[in-house]
Amino acid sequence: MTTLTRREGLVLGAGSALAAMLPESVWAEPAPSLHALAQAKGMRFGSAIAANAGGGIVNSRYTALIKAECGLLVAENEMKWQALRPSPTHFDFTGADAIMDYAMRNGLALRGHNLLWNRPQWQPAWFKEYDFGVQQASEAAALLTTHINTVCARYQGRIKSYDVVNETVLPETGLLAETYLSKAMGSTEALVDLAFHTARAEAPDAQLVYNDYMSWEPGNETHRAGVLKFLEGLRQRGTPVDALGIQSHLIAQDARPQEREWRSFIDAVTGMGYALLITEFDVRDSALPKDFAKRDAGVAALGKAYLDMMFSYTQLRDVLVWGMADPFSWLQGFEPRKDGAPTRGCLLDDAYRAKPLRAAVAAAFEAAPKR
Ligand code: XIL
Repeated sequence: MTTLTRREGLVLGAGSALAAMLPESVWAEPAPSLHALAQAKGMRFGSAIAANAGGGIVNSRYTALIKAECGLLVAENEMKWQALRPSPTHFDFTGADAIMDYAMRNGLALRGHNLLWNRPQWQPAWFKEYDFGVQQASEAAALLTTHINTVCARYQGRIKSYDVVNETVLPETGLLAETYLSKAMGSTEALVDLAFHTARAEAPDAQLVYNDYMSWEPGNETHRAGVLKFLEGLRQRGTPVDALGIQSHLIAQDARPQEREWRSFIDAVTGMGYALLITEFDVRDSALPKDFAKRDAGVAALGKAYLDMMFSYTQLRDVLVWGMADPFSWLQGFEPRKDGAPTRGCLLDDAYRAKPLRAAVAAAFEAAPKR
C-alpha cells in the first residue's frame, strides 16, 4: 500500500534538501492520495497501466497502489494500433477490454491512447506491405475511419478523452511526419484532420487531444515551433481539437530548462484556446549521480519546479504519470543508465515506497490554484 509512516518518509527523504522544503503533511499517515489532492483543486491524477505486465492489472500489489493513488488511467500499449490491429481486417481487444473492465470495476476513468500514432515505427508492420490499390487516398481514409469508428463505438460513453493523434511533428525539423498511411492519403494534414473529424463524429462528447513530447529542455526549440505551427494550422482549418497533451518525459540534465521559452510556448497554446493535459509524466535521471538520496532529490526538485509552473495554468486539469513505480517503467529499457543502475524516474521505488518525487507531486497539487 502507499500509506507511508512519517518515519519512512523522513528516512527516504533524508539528505535531500527538497525533503526539508516539503510540508510535513505529505508524509502524514494516512497520506491523502494524489487523486484526492488533485480533486481538491478541480484536477485529476492518474497513471498508465498495462494488462499483462508487472505494472499491470494482473499484479495485485500494483493495483493496490493504483487504487490508492489514482482517479484516472491510460493503457500503456493496449489501445495502440500495434496491439489492436494484428492484421488489416482483424481487431484484437483482449488487452484493451481487460483494462477498460478493470477501470469500470474500480470507478476509475480511462483515457484512450491513441487513435493514430503517426510514426512508421509505431504503426503495425503490415502497413509496409499493405496494398492501398488504385484509389490510395480513399483506401487510407477507410482504414483510418474504420479503426477510429470501431474503437470509439466500443468504448462509447466510457472513454471521455482521446489522444486522437500522437507525435506527428518531427522534433528535428518541426515538419509533419510521413507514414505509409499519410503518403497513401496524400498528406499528413489530410490524415490528421480526418482522424479528428471522425473521432468528433463518433465520440461527440469526448475531449479530443493532440499529444506530443516537445518539452522545456534546450534542444526542443524546433519541436516546439513545429507544434505551434501545427496547432495553428488545425485552428485555421477548423479541425476539432480540444487540447494539447504534453507528455512531460522530463530530462534531468546540467543545462537549465528554458523556463521563459516554455512559458511562452504554453501561453501561445492556451492563447489559441487549447486546454492542457500532462499525459505521461516521468523523469529521466541518467545525468544524475548514482547515489539514491542525491538522485531522488534531483528528480524531485526538477519535477516540483516543472509541475508548479504547469499547475499555474488553470487550463490544466488532468495529470498522468507514465507508470507509478520504477521497476515497471519504460525508462528502464528506453534509457538505461550508463552505470547500469536502475532508473528512478517514477514516484515509487522497487519496494513500492514513495520517493521524494511523490512528495513533490503532492506538494505541487497542494500549492496549485483551484480550477
Ligand atoms: C511506450 C511504452 O511505454 C513502451 O512500453 C512501448 O514499447 C513504446 O511506447 N510516448 C508515448 C507512449 O506516447 O505511448 C510511449 O509508450 C512513450 C512515449
